[in-house]
Amino acid sequence: MTTSDQATTRSLRSRRSNLAVPGSSPKMLEKAKGLPADQVFMDIEDAVAPLAKPDARKNIVAALNEGGYEDKVRVVRVNDWTTQWTYADVVEVVEGAGQNLDCIMLPKVQTPEQVVALDLLLTQIEKANGLEVGRIGIEAQIENALGLINVDGIATASPRVETIIFGPADFMASINMKSLVVGEQPPGYDVGDAYHHILMSILMAARAHDKQAIDGPYLQIKDVEGYKRVAGRSAALGFDGKWVLHPGQVEAANEVYSPRQEDYDHAELILDAYDYYTSAAGGALGAVMLGDEMIDEASRKMALVISAKGRAAGMQRTKAFTPPES
Ligand code: GLV
Ligand code: MG
Repeated sequence: MTTSDQATTRSLRSRRSNLAVPGSSPKMLEKAKGLPADQVFMDIEDAVAPLAKPDARKNIVAALNEGGYEDKVRVVRVNDWTTQWTYADVVEVVEGAGQNLDCIMLPKVQTPEQVVALDLLLTQIEKANGLEVGRIGIEAQIENALGLINVDGIATASPRVETIIFGPADFMASINMKSLVVGEQPPGYDVGDAYHHILMSILMAARAHDKQAIDGPYLQIKDVEGYKRVAGRSAALGFDGKWVLHPGQVEAANEVYSPRQEDYDHAELILDAYDYYTSAAGGALGAVMLGDEMIDEASRKMALVISAKGRAAGMQRTKAFTPPES
């Protein structure tokens, strides 16, 4: 696979629901196999106590090699570069299960150099172990002010970067936001959305460089309506998916980040109609009518986004385009 093929595969993976599983729990690693999440990420960072990290690495290698996650994007979250654990996390997991792993998630990324460091380490491990060089992607979590200021450089620091993820819990702590309820508005802030700038900055970096933008966790795991409300905001802006911490949040994420069936059908119709009318057979037109709607090149671009999300999510169209009788 060429680098550009790898980049194409990357941008097309569906990541509506990103299921967090602590690597310290073989039981939860097993249970994750049966859940309809688009991505599973096995954690060695904040969901795992320092003394449990060595065992978590081993559990994760065993789980990945045993298999059962092949219908999902398989990701491992390592510890961040300011700790003493990152290199050993990456070496043990990639040497042990590199062929059964799609991405490494790097938390608390602050500078592009931290992404480059992970890229270099991955390349060495791939070469030394006969793995395809460059196949394993990187998911970069933005969790503090420095990371957000550098988000553009972080997105382009390595062709391995596939997603930029918002880490709201660490982010709120790092900027001294006056709230302990992750995802909800801080008390005293009564205008707009306190997260808008952060979400938009991440989304702009992702869209500018063809990466996926992923929203982070919602900690009130029993409140599925609250989850949908907060997820609905980032989905409305254009985010591709969100973390899920509990099986109850998986369906909600899949629903909120999928296009609606009627929007998906409409997008496919626009693409077909536009293809037809711009062709010689259709009259080589630029702006044309689809029913009562005028469509042009800009409509095609918007339709492409919805169609790509729907196709990646495995949606089936329910309406076909029929060219007019000539
Ligand atoms: C996730 O890692 C977060 O800090 O929200
Ligand atoms: Mg975090």
